[in-house]
Amino acid sequence: MTRRLRSQDWFDNSDHVDLAALYLERFMNYGLTPEELREGRPIIGIAQSGSDLSPCNRHHLELAQRVKDGIRDAGGIPIEFPMHPIFENCRRPTAALDRNLAYLGLVEVLYGYPLDGVVLTTGCDKTTPAALMAASTVDIPAIVLSGGPMLDSQSRGELAGSGTVIWQCRQKFAAGEITREEFMQAALDSAPSVGHCNTMGTALTMNAMAEALGMSLTGCAAIPAAYRERGQMAYRTGRRAVEIVHEDLRPSHILTRAAFLNAIRVNSALGGSTNAQPHLTAMAVHAGVTLDPQDWQIYGHDIPLLADVQPAGRFLGERFHRAGGVPAVMWELLAVGKLDGTGPTVTGRTMSENLAGREATDREVIRPFADPLRDRAGFQVLTGNLFDFAILKTSVISDEFRQRYLSTPGKEGCFEGRAVVFDGAEDYHARINDPGLQIDEDCILVIRGAGPLGWPGSAEVVNMQPPDALIRRGITSLPTLGDGRQSGTSASPSIVHASPESAAGGGLSWLRTGDILRVDLSQGRCDALVTADEIETRKAQAPQPAPESQTPWQQIYRREVEQLSEGATLRSAKGFRAVASRLPRH
Ligand code: FES
Ligand code: MG
Repeated sequence: MTRRLRSQDWFDNSDHVDLAALYLERFMNYGLTPEELREGRPIIGIAQSGSDLSPCNRHHLELAQRVKDGIRDAGGIPIEFPMHPIFENCRRPTAALDRNLAYLGLVEVLYGYPLDGVVLTTGCDKTTPAALMAASTVDIPAIVLSGGPMLDSQSRGELAGSGTVIWQCRQKFAAGEITREEFMQAALDSAPSVGHCNTMGTALTMNAMAEALGMSLTGCAAIPAAYRERGQMAYRTGRRAVEIVHEDLRPSHILTRAAFLNAIRVNSALGGSTNAQPHLTAMAVHAGVTLDPQDWQIYGHDIPLLADVQPAGRFLGERFHRAGGVPAVMWELLAVGKLDGTGPTVTGRTMSENLAGREATDREVIRPFADPLRDRAGFQVLTGNLFDFAILKTSVISDEFRQRYLSTPGKEGCFEGRAVVFDGAEDYHARINDPGLQIDEDCILVIRGAGPLGWPGSAEVVNMQPPDALIRRGITSLPTLGDGRQSGTSASPSIVHASPESAAGGGLSWLRTGDILRVDLSQGRCDALVTADEIETRKAQAPQPAPESQTPWQQIYRREVEQLSEGATLRSAKGFRAVASRLPRH
């Protein structure tokens, strides 16, 4: 071991003995010794995303002990530090504001402190992209430790997936089938243990993406938080974190365009969250990889759905893990040449080597490529006169919805509907049950003012539920469209991420209730049947005002943020790459 470590510039710098003393002294006050910090042992940060305010990741507070054991046993020194908390469900006005804030904070810590490598503890939706974005910007050796999903949850004898059960209960409640107490009980039942959401929501999706990219040990993503294997994975991840410092194996070696295209394909096969689109795009931006919005169509759309996991399928994370988890899904794709297995991964081996012998053990949960749950199950990319870019998650389009909207003979994949436009979530809740809107199955629900600028942050509100009266008639989903996002746990066939958003002058800003929308999935188009002259007239009128920023960060975020098609990254952050290649000044 001869390579001089980054941390030695702080602690073992003969040019600056006085400063080395200063840097060292306060680490001593809890018992670290100068010898440990000055003998060239890798100092490994543990970016702690868990706290009482981040319950999905809270188990990492305990797992960190096993990570530290692994780091110590491999000869490193662990130093744990907190990340900005991100709690998807509870953060108002939306946790989307936190991804870029946590990113900025982590970049500063990784860059400005004597760290040689980092273990990124991830779980709840945006913790994974925030951590990986920062690891790329700094580009020191980094490895992801997922926290794992909660155990499989049941309510009244049926599987009750996180989030998904809430959407289901909302419908049952609207239909008068359950009481408030039963609604609350189902929510409680859906959270049976430590861990993050147990559906293939955004959390499990993004941890699977980290694994698909090659940034975690094989099989890491889906191990339930409460399993003994999770603690063992924590230990092994800690050990490996030290080795990758010695090998100088950095994110920039692993996060290539081929790795991102692999992740897009894996997301389709998993039935992963639509939030993977902005998050993977943002991770690519900071990795210096060009990911085109059309890549989702070109590389992702034709991949079949293989994982039978809610919300696109039936099962939950625990059963998915026991069936083989992410490696088993990747094994299927690799076997038919739909995966590039040649790239390096954080294990030190190629992806193909990682996947050897990882065939699924439960074919009810993970289907063979030749016998999928659905063919061509990736995101459909849409464009038209309302937006340049939007996506639709095809794997959650139900047979009933297909039959009603997408199966007109001679016009397959094509339907028209009357737009009912809502200005934000408050407007939706206030008016959705207004009989005057005459909402029926020929309507398309549209929400605007829900994008990165408009909300601000971009909210998961596009998966709008039909009016109660329609639900009572058995119509549980209408086509929806919006410039916000949808929950990863929702099975709504929503057209989301319309970019540019209405608050940026996108087409939704001039759309009016009563306009006819034509959606043509076969052509990848969504248009309002409004004349060009009429559009110009409407554009000249004042747009809907966006709510004022309530905090300094909201204001800064709005000045800086790109559209969802571009990953909703911060403009000024994009120019910084591999900043650790130059040491900070003393
Ligand atoms: Fe945190 Fe789903 S709310 S993982
Ligand atoms: Mg969510």
